[in-house]
Amino acid sequence: MSATNQIIIFDTTLRDGEQSPGAAMNLEEKLKVALLLEQLGVDVMEAGFPISSNGDFEAVNAIAKVVKNSTVCGLARATAKDIERAAEAIKPAPRKRIHTFISTSPLHMKYKLQMEPEKVLQAVTDSIALARKLCDDIEWSAEDGSRTEHDFLCRCVEAAIKAGATTINIPDTVGYSTPQEYGDLFKMVINRVPNADKAIFSTHCHNDLGLAVANSLAGAINGARQIECTINGLGERAGNAALEEIVMALKVRHDIMPLSTNIKTEVITRASHLVSTVTGFNVQPNKSIVGANAFAHESGIHQDGMIKNRQTYEIMTPQSVGLTKTSMKLGKLSGRAAFRGKLQEMGYTLDDNALTEAFNRFKDLADKKKEVFDEDIMALVDDEVAQASQNIRFISMELRTGSKEPAQAKIELLIDGKNVSASATGNGCVDATFNAIKALVPHQANLQLYQVGAVTQGTDAQAEVTVRLEEMGRTVNGQGADPDTIIASARAYVHALNKLAIKRLKQEPPEDILTP
Ligand code: KIV
Ligand code: ZN
Repeated sequence: MSATNQIIIFDTTLRDGEQSPGAAMNLEEKLKVALLLEQLGVDVMEAGFPISSNGDFEAVNAIAKVVKNSTVCGLARATAKDIERAAEAIKPAPRKRIHTFISTSPLHMKYKLQMEPEKVLQAVTDSIALARKLCDDIEWSAEDGSRTEHDFLCRCVEAAIKAGATTINIPDTVGYSTPQEYGDLFKMVINRVPNADKAIFSTHCHNDLGLAVANSLAGAINGARQIECTINGLGERAGNAALEEIVMALKVRHDIMPLSTNIKTEVITRASHLVSTVTGFNVQPNKSIVGANAFAHESGIHQDGMIKNRQTYEIMTPQSVGLTKTSMKLGKLSGRAAFRGKLQEMGYTLDDNALTEAFNRFKDLADKKKEVFDEDIMALVDDEVAQASQNIRFISMELRTGSKEPAQAKIELLIDGKNVSASATGNGCVDATFNAIKALVPHQANLQLYQVGAVTQGTDAQAEVTVRLEEMGRTVNGQGADPDTIIASARAYVHALNKLAIKRLKQEPPEDILTP
């Protein structure tokens, strides 16, 4: 192990995570995620790939203006245009980093780059030298590093450090490596490269074989001191190494991996919920750390053991990852101050208007639901914040349905300050509801995803709905929450239409194919 046992957590949810097809986030959502990542305590956040689109540039730039405690990083290929654009985007950040990369494997160099190895080596030196003129903190990545010839990888790493890179990342870009092999790779590079002591080594693992977390930990055990990861393991194809799994593995098994992070683990559940809500990527129930069943004990034998001593079946507490099972002690008679206090405790700060709206909805919910859990409040407030700034707002709806006639929905919306309503029939409640909304807001978008989840257990649980719409290559995710599944669906559809309208207005180009 290297001298310091501190692991730098580099979160790339907003860059590699956002590259998952359909996971696109808008500026407001990216800012929300960035601020929560800062609260979570990530050391570095990769905020985007500024050259890829104006939208990405604006998002990185906006994040650089508000994030104070984490380093804000922008990605760039090994070209002057990319590097200059990244430098411009991160300029306002108090702590900033340019992350530049080029492929080094024989396969990538020959077919993707169509460059000779010596030219690639020269590009490493030139790109870092330029980046170093614009920023002091430079990370260099050997894309497809785990499939790169060792001699060539060592030459590139040595040249990168000599040119001024302070972090060296060796990605397992295609998720091909195994823990033994990936760990040995770090040991080999750190031992062989003469100036290796002048840089911090980093892992970046994809999960194609389900080994991303194991590989990242093997890298750290063998000398890497930065781990790149994403919330919920979001990312290209099968995703990246999951931040929450890495951090909790290091915390729970500190006895055999004496490595520490700065992550405030109590914020993990909220970060997971926010990322899954804004991207529409549900967390599977049996997902480690953040799945709905991660702390549920069903079998009698387990429950008996838990009652006698929690440690019989619990290796970490739900509280340590921010999951509070306590039912909220506020009821329909509770006041605004108590509600505000609860929100503050959960890490939310709302302005007065949003607080009033959220409070009114909480009262409605407390009327309808026996117990109001923290998860309910989280869903309700996230939904309220999402709807607050919309030009098209859901007001009310009526529904007639049964097994004999087509369902009929009547929808009332507020569009640009004016109340409008329409009725429509459809093949079931959701279809009728969406048809009524479409009559008020005509559009050509395709429905790509309609997804319903329950926030908690029980038939009175709130439904959380995600609607993904696609129009001319532009994709948006809308979310809605309500104890009534159809109302939650209407809210989600309206939310998606608002986001689409903004994209149209900004004339945002289709999601880019420039992604690395
Ligand atoms: O997977 C990968 O190689 C990457 C690089 C751009 C770091 O995402
Ligand atoms: Zn990647």
